[in-house]
Amino acid sequence: MINRKDMIDLFRASSTYINAHRSKVFVVLLSGEAQADDNFFNVVYDLSLLHNLGVKLVLVQGARPQITAALEKENIDSSYHQNLRVTESVCIEIVKQAVGSLGINIDALFSMGTRNSPMHGSDIRLCRGNFVTAKPAGIHDGVDFHFTGKVRKIHTAAINKQLNQGNLVVLSNLGYSLTGEVFNLSAEEIATEVAIALNAEKLILMIPEDGVIDDKGQLIPSLSESDAKKYADNKAILKDEDSKCISQALYASLRAYSNHVHRIHLISFKSNGALLQELFTREGNGSLVSNDSFDQLRDASISDVTGILNLIKPLENDGTLVERSRELLENEIQNFKIIELEGAIIACAALYPIDYQSGEIACIAIDSNEQKNGYGARLLTNLEKSASELGFTKLFVLTTVASHWFIEKGFSEAELDDLPDQRKGLYNMQRKSKVLLKQLS
Ligand SMILES: CC(C)(COP(=O)(O)OP(=O)(O)OC[C@H]1O[C@@H](n2cnc3c(N)ncnc32)[C@H](O)[C@@H]1OP(=O)(O)O)[C@@H](O)C(=O)NCCC(=O)NCCS
Repeated sequence: MINRKDMIDLFRASSTYINAHRSKVFVVLLSGEAQADDNFFNVVYDLSLLHNLGVKLVLVQGARPQITAALEKENIDSSYHQNLRVTESVCIEIVKQAVGSLGINIDALFSMGTRNSPMHGSDIRLCRGNFVTAKPAGIHDGVDFHFTGKVRKIHTAAINKQLNQGNLVVLSNLGYSLTGEVFNLSAEEIATEVAIALNAEKLILMIPEDGVIDDKGQLIPSLSESDAKKYADNKAILKDEDSKCISQALYASLRAYSNHVHRIHLISFKSNGALLQELFTREGNGSLVSNDSFDQLRDASISDVTGILNLIKPLENDGTLVERSRELLENEIQNFKIIELEGAIIACAALYPIDYQSGEIACIAIDSNEQKNGYGARLLTNLEKSASELGFTKLFVLTTVASHWFIEKGFSEAELDDLPDQRKGLYNMQRKSKVLLKQLS
């Protein structure tokens, strides 16, 4: 159970994000898989909270597994080509029923308001309609897609009007043609095109994993365009449903990325509260594909020594950091990580091994013009990950001025005697640095 102080701190810490998100347009893809998951109730609660905090929400409902199940029930085979279902005329009625049923379910969920539910008092109005004009996908490689469609036009003025009236806009994966026909579209395509057309602040894609996971099973908090492409291609060759869902989301994020949607989040629909954690905490809980930052966190090399020296010199001069000569830095450069922004080193930090189970964070410094942008936290998280990979269970830091910053990052005050002997022997009694310790799992 969270204690009172933690709850108050957490609530206050989220206020920056509440202010930043207010009145912004977020487009959220709710895949058919997400809607079938046991955690979907919680996703709806969290979306209603976002709406009540002033976020303008456009939800896009997918229906892929529900359509497949409905077709199978009628013994109708449906084939895929180029990752798109071929919707023959015999299928479209069944598609309409499956999609209609999902729409009704979501209306019902957002209408909940009993006293014991988190939706009590929220009184949300959903609005849906013919906001997407579709055209036939056509014939490709000799395959006729029949009633599978593509986006022809997003009616942004009509959507914005609803959002400005305080309504939550819900779109299905169906679009309507100028000839009055109904087409079955990919929900990923609709979500992406809507985000682009509305110039949305965020595109949020709910997926079955915590985000994009690397080969070592670690969550990748932020991805470049090339990373996103690599993981999309890797997932696309796997045949399981989760991989398909993630690869589609990644391809959608690439399209949004190259069309100036600045922040695309991949967030788990299975993990209770992941959406709130990603949007209201510094640490987040998902993967972000973002094109608004040109910074790069990487291992330092010998050619970075001058840049690091320029960065740390003022802090050495005022006594914040221990002095390091160029020679020492050159010898120890393999312990350093840096963040480079448009060619300049704006942040550095080092991880020094002490013994086989403990390491020390040292020389963390962020350019004074770039502080409070999360660079320190990013470096620390990265070094903690390296420490865990090296098998360290204890991470020390000795600091004179930043103890609170480290405590907020999970460190606790420790005694000098907690330091391994070889490090204790080097402790500078005049500096009187505080010893902080974090246990790594
Ligand atoms: C301490 C330092 C590494 C933090 O890096 P950063 O990139 O600015 O930190 P983040 O953006 O991740 O976090 C910023 C938050 O930490 C807070 N913070 C920064 N320095 C702090 C300190 N010394 N004590 C407590 N909190 C501090 C900021 O006020 C901000 O909080 P807010 O968002 O509530 O206003 C950076 O300020 C720095 O380089 N300081 C000078 C060098 C230094 O003191 N190094 C530590 C030697 S051990």
